[in-house]
Amino acid sequence: MSTISESSVFDEPVLNVIHLLNSLTGEHPQAISLASGRPDDEQCDPALIERGLASYTRYLDQPASVATLLCQYSATAGIINELLAEHMRVDEGLCPVDPDCLVVCQGFQEAVTLALLALFDKGGVLLVPDPVFSGITGIAKLLKIEVVAVPMATFLDPRALRHFISTVQCQGRKVRAIYAIPDFSNPTADSLSFDARQAMLDIARACDFYVLEDNAYRYFRYEGDRLPAMKALDSERVFYLGSFAKSIFPGLRMGYVVAPQGVHAPEWTARLCKSKSLVSVHTPALCQAVVGGLLLDNQFSLVQLNAARVAAYARKRDYMLECLAQAFADQPGVSWNRPAGGFFINLKLPFEFTQAQMKECAIAFRVIVFPVALFSLLGHGTREVRLSFSNVSLEQIRVAIERFGAYVDTQLGCGSRSATEHHATDDLIRAEQADRGA
Ligand SMILES: Cc1ncc(COP(=O)(O)O)c(C=O)c1O
Repeated sequence: MSTISESSVFDEPVLNVIHLLNSLTGEHPQAISLASGRPDDEQCDPALIERGLASYTRYLDQPASVATLLCQYSATAGIINELLAEHMRVDEGLCPVDPDCLVVCQGFQEAVTLALLALFDKGGVLLVPDPVFSGITGIAKLLKIEVVAVPMATFLDPRALRHFISTVQCQGRKVRAIYAIPDFSNPTADSLSFDARQAMLDIARACDFYVLEDNAYRYFRYEGDRLPAMKALDSERVFYLGSFAKSIFPGLRMGYVVAPQGVHAPEWTARLCKSKSLVSVHTPALCQAVVGGLLLDNQFSLVQLNAARVAAYARKRDYMLECLAQAFADQPGVSWNRPAGGFFINLKLPFEFTQAQMKECAIAFRVIVFPVALFSLLGHGTREVRLSFSNVSLEQIRVAIERFGAYVDTQLGCGSRSATEHHATDDLIRAEQADRGA
C-alpha cells in the first residue's frame, strides 16, 4: 500500500497561510483580530444579492432564457463578459477590452491558477515580490512552478529589478512571468510608482515575459491620484487578474482574467478556457448575475459602487494611525508606514515577531496581529507585523492597539501598561464581535 510521503510540497509553510488566517479568530475568540484582510462585515450586505439578481434579470428581459441561463450549465468563459469589458472601459480606460479575451472566474485565486496553467506548460521562472500574498506563492508551489522571490526594495526599484532579472537570466533560467500587486500590496501596502510600472513593462517586453497584474485593492485609495493599471499601459504584456472579494464581497467568489491582447490573444484565451473547463467547468451563473446586475445599477463603475466603503475604510486607516501614534509615542524603535490605500498598515518592531509570538500575544494580550515573515520565502520581515483595519470597528481598533502597545512594552521590558488593564472593555468588545460575526 502506498503511503503519503514524508516530505512533500504540502509541507511548504506558505500553503498554510490562508487556512491559518481563516481559522485564527475561531481559535482565539477572546482576542480582537487585526490579522485577516477580510472586507468589513458591514459591507457584506445580503440585500446586494437580490438587488444584483433583479437588475440582471431586468436586463435579460426574457423569463425563459433567465431560467436556462442561471440554472443550466453555462458558457465556460462566462455570461457577463460584455458587462465586465464595459466596466473596464469606464473605470480603467481599457479600451476596448475584447469580451472574448476575458474569462470569468471563481475569484482571483482561480484566475491566477488558470493564468499559471496557461503560461507554465513548458517550465520557466515566476518572479514574485517578497514578502507577498501567499495565494500566489502557494498555488505556484502546488503547480511545481519555479518561484524566484525578489526582495520588495528591489521589486520597487526599476534599476535594481533590471539587474536582478538579468542575473537570473544569466544563470540560464528563463523568466516567464512576474506577479505584481501595483496598488497597495498585501502584506506591506507598497505600490508601484508610474515609472516603476512603465519600467517593469519595458523589461517584460525586452526579456519576453508576462506580467500577472492583481488588482484586488485597486479601488481602495484614500489619498493621492490614481495611477493607470499596467494593463492600460500595455495590454499585450499583461494578464489582468480581477477580484470582487473586496469591491463587492468575497462569498460570491467572483473574479476574472483578461488575456494579453494582440495576435496571440485567441491562443491565450483558448488555454485559459480549456483549463477553466477542467478546473471548475464554469463560474456559477447566479454569482455572475449578481455582479453583472450591480455593475448595471452603478453605471458599470466599481468606483461608484465603492464610494461609501472607501470613505469608511479611510476613517479606519486614519484612526489606526492616530492610535499607533499615541500607543508608541515613547517607543522610537517602533515605526509604521502610512499607506495611501488598501487594507493594511505595516509596522516594524525592534524584536522578532513570528508565529509563536503571535500566539503568545493573542492569548496573553487578546489581540491578534499577523507576522509578515509568514508571507516571505526569503526569511524576511521577521520584525514586521501586518495590521489590518478593514474588519474592525473604531472602538476595536482603539482597544486592539492599546493591547498591542502593552505587549510591545512587556517585550521591551518597560511594561507600565499591563495585559489586564483593559479587561473592563472586554464585554463591550465581545458584544461587538458577536454582532459582527467576527
Ligand atoms: C493580493 C490579493 N489578491 C487577491 C485577493 C482576493 O482573492 P479572491 O478573489 O480569490 O478572494 C486577496 C485577498 O486577500 C489578496 O490579498
